[in-house]
Amino acid sequence: MKIHILVIHGPNLNLLGQRETSVYGTASLSKINALIKTEAEKYGLEVSTFQSNYEGALVEAIQEAKGKYDFIIINPAAYTHTSVALRDAILAVDIPTIEVHLSNIYKREEFRHKSYISGVAIGQISGFGVQSYLLAVRAVAEIARQKKETGGNYVYHK
Ligand code: DQA
Repeated sequence: MKIHILVIHGPNLNLLGQRETSVYGTASLSKINALIKTEAEKYGLEVSTFQSNYEGALVEAIQEAKGKYDFIIINPAAYTHTSVALRDAILAVDIPTIEVHLSNIYKREEFRHKSYISGVAIGQISGFGVQSYLLAVRAVAEIARQKKETGGNYVYHK
């Protein structure tokens, strides 16, 4: 059975390509989603994508992922720095999750240095633009490969 990844994009990411292009680049969200799908296909992974500007809708997407998806890749955008609800949703579903950011959040304003998500994620990829998402897909491919190789005994580094 194919590994299925849910890619979740948080608020304002629907405006990618028009929004602060010097920080976030010129690729639109649909372009980014297409690149993610192409990358996933290379590794035989399936991907679904979801974007919302609403915290509750993002929480529901995570809740509904239980039993349907093997991994979550999430760019929580501004909710990274505020949302205990998103963090709790990830804990509740217990789906291995990778946090991504287009920009390097540690190079920016201090309020962006705090992530409520990183403590419940396998890891965080920040600062590589669109590549952040593609690197996350590759990380999933590698984890899935290692899980298979070890008969499911792959241990995430804590
Ligand atoms: C972001 C970084 C966040 O601080 C910001 O609020 C975003 C995008 C990124 O991808 O670099 O909206 O998550």
